[in-house]
Amino acid sequence: MFELRKQDARDLMKIGKQGMFSLTDPVDELCARLILGWRYDPPYDVYDLNVDRSDRALVFFLNPKSNYFTIKDTKGGLDGYWCFGKSARVVGGSYWGRAIDLGLGIRPDLTGRGIGFQYVEAVVEFLTRSCTKVPLRVTIASFNRRAQRVWERADFRLVQRFFCRSDDMPYVILRREIG
Ligand SMILES: CC(C)(COP(=O)(O)OP(=O)(O)OC[C@H]1O[C@@H](n2cnc3c(N)ncnc32)[C@H](O)[C@@H]1OP(=O)(O)O)[C@@H](O)C(=O)NCCC(=O)NCCS
Repeated sequence: MFELRKQDARDLMKIGKQGMFSLTDPVDELCARLILGWRYDPPYDVYDLNVDRSDRALVFFLNPKSNYFTIKDTKGGLDGYWCFGKSARVVGGSYWGRAIDLGLGIRPDLTGRGIGFQYVEAVVEFLTRSCTKVPLRVTIASFNRRAQRVWERADFRLVQRFFCRSDDMPYVILRREIG
């Protein structure tokens, strides 16, 4: 099981050319409520969190076992969130083998501007530093080529396609090997 190392939890991560991010604060109630209010333009509105289920979503975000962390800029502004483990899996996928499953989302106004890669790169570099020798994996809706392109740029490669009956959508799993 992956755990954040103490020294990493104290770090502000300086990654990439475009700035610094803090990746190690768990999502707290204030941030969870902000994330619950995020609304993406179609077709990415499938990622909007359902207001009717917001109480459940809040409990889920705040449960330490869900492994949700904020991505904050140098001034502490909330740019996005990332998660790992079961929270990053989708029902119907086959998650065999040792790997860390990842999920990541940035604020709606930051999307589609060519900057998503810096966040993915920051999380990937953070994890490969904290937890070496474990492949990484991400599950993405098949329609979402935008997200797939960003993860592919971070050396993730297609390993599986599957259909999720719960939300009636096809998905892909991409994997990044060690090294
Ligand atoms: C997924 C995410 C990190 C991508 O970051 P982003 O900054 O929005 O993506 P970009 O603007 O850099 O676009 C990435 C690439 O997709 C391309 N692209 C954009 N829309 C596209 C589309 N409809 N079809 C194909 N490619 C598309 C861009 O041209 C760019 O191409 P490039 O790699 O040649 O530069 C970000 O959109 C996000 O967090 N979204 C939240 C909702 C979401 O999609 N969640 C998925 C979680 S896995």
